[in-house]
Amino acid sequence: MEGNAVTEGSAETEGSAAVFCFTATGNSLYVARQLGDDVLSIPHELGKRERRYKAESVGIVSPVFYHELPDPVKEFIAGSTFECDYFFIVGTYGAHHGGFAELTRQFLESCGHAADYVNTIIMVDNALPGYDIAEQLRIDPAKRVDEHIASLRADVRARRRYVQPATEEELAHHFATIAKGKIAPTDDDPLYKVSKACVGCGACLKVCPMNCIDIVGGRARHRYASCAVCMACIHACPQKAIEFASLAEKNPGVHYRNPHVTLADLIALNG
Ligand SMILES: Cc1cc2nc3c(=O)[nH]c(=O)nc-3n(C[C@H](O)[C@H](O)[C@H](O)COP(=O)(O)O)c2cc1C
Ligand code: SF4
Ligand code: SF4
Repeated sequence: MEGNAVTEGSAETEGSAAVFCFTATGNSLYVARQLGDDVLSIPHELGKRERRYKAESVGIVSPVFYHELPDPVKEFIAGSTFECDYFFIVGTYGAHHGGFAELTRQFLESCGHAADYVNTIIMVDNALPGYDIAEQLRIDPAKRVDEHIASLRADVRARRRYVQPATEEELAHHFATIAKGKIAPTDDDPLYKVSKACVGCGACLKVCPMNCIDIVGGRARHRYASCAVCMACIHACPQKAIEFASLAEKNPGVHYRNPHVTLADLIALNG
């Protein structure tokens, strides 16, 4: 999914709105498609040595991880140069944004960037094992996703300058969450086990944005060195063969992909 608005080096397209996207289950891709002309893959761009981008408007749409940008998205931003009149960031989250916009503003400042607009949108929470996806789908209509996307689109088109404020309560929730520790798997302490139900179809490795999965002896095998714990693999497995090694999943029978996004879309963006 290479767009023509911005590429490695110094390419440029006048009048363009380029949106860089990181996604595991498609929520962020669904939003990104509605905010820009070109959607570019952050995993693909991360593979490029030099990253200089020029467009009238540049956006980033990403899931919220622990109330912040995921590490690969931070790495992408920190190592890129953006020449644009308008720079915006949207975080998709499922339950608590925890001050995402303010935390993102602080991160941008720490690496010499600044955004004109940082906002969030609540969607289905894909964070396993804590969330029951069946319950998430039941409450999804009340989140009024399309209405909120229309509002984000109007803001971005009007080049609104805004950073969603964070309350003290939200930031306290963030720091309390971080104090409990993030899921940080290693090959010796794996997050997942792959059951006999695995048929070696490769869907999990094709949607993995960090290239962490191989098929060995006809079965998927994770390598955790660069795993972003994004959960794309477990949600995408058609056999439900990827299970948590030691955590209890609320509803292992139901996994998630945004209904407007196909498996092929995720493979094109991440594979
Ligand atoms: C590792 C991880 C951490 C997450 N942290 C948060 C969080 O702090 N707050 C929240 O509301 N949702 C959190 N989520 C849920 C996702 O941000 C949300 O479902 C997002 O829309 C998924 O986007 P995607 O479909 O583009 O991957 C987390 C999900 C994962 C996998
Ligand atoms: S998607 Fe599931 S069935 Fe296919 S290779 Fe991966 S673990 Fe195995
Ligand atoms: S192996 Fe890690 S990075 Fe790859 S899809 Fe699974 S959770 Fe995401």
